[in-house]
Amino acid sequence: MGERNFTPFPVLKTENLTLRQLVSSDAKEIFALRSDSNVNKYLGRKPSQSIDDAKIFIRTINENIKKNNSIYWAITFNDSDKLIGTICLFDFSEDNLKAEIGYELLPDFQGKGIMQEATSKIIEFGIQLLGLNSIEAYTHSENQSSTKLLEKFNFKKHSVDSNNLIMK
Ligand SMILES: CC(C)(COP(=O)(O)OP(=O)(O)OC[C@H]1O[C@@H](n2cnc3c(N)ncnc32)[C@H](O)[C@@H]1OP(=O)(O)O)[C@@H](O)C(=O)NCCC(=O)NCCS
Repeated sequence: MGERNFTPFPVLKTENLTLRQLVSSDAKEIFALRSDSNVNKYLGRKPSQSIDDAKIFIRTINENIKKNNSIYWAITFNDSDKLIGTICLFDFSEDNLKAEIGYELLPDFQGKGIMQEATSKIIEFGIQLLGLNSIEAYTHSENQSSTKLLEKFNFKKHSVDSNNLIMK
């Protein structure tokens, strides 16, 4: 059985990307992500109202990481510290064998293969370092770019819960 310990924070690198912890100076980009109608389209969440909302969000995320409840990375390019998106693993099962994945990218960076690169690293991390044997994703049934991304990693449509496709 895997054990979760996210301290020290696991910074991960891929060919083009660095996945690092969120810091309060990411608030502007987090606000941009969480208030963008394109990004929020299928996420069914209340849009972020202010930079202060974003700062509170960042603080909450980092508290959850400290408690090993979930793990949430800022996605940046290797040559720039600016946040372009996020990716996370959360809702771990009690036996630590199962978790859910979530991800989002600012619109300017979508459609370039960036999330494929980030997702590949996070799946590797989840399986090899955390010992997961199942990763689930809840994605809106009309969210084609997300569904397509998951299918590239062999996630299969499992069931539908209201508008959410559950993929494993
Ligand atoms: C879902 C989301 C993260 C997908 O991100 P993405 O980076 O665009 O996804 P991918 O990495 O799969 O790249 C997609 C496209 O980039 C293109 N691309 C360009 N260069 C590429 C490269 N070097 N390698 C791979 N693909 C490349 C491909 O054409 C690919 O499109 P295709 O799947 O039709 O072939 C993004 O659309 C998003 O943030 N959506 C809003 C938030 C959201 O809905 N999140 C999901 C919640 S469940």
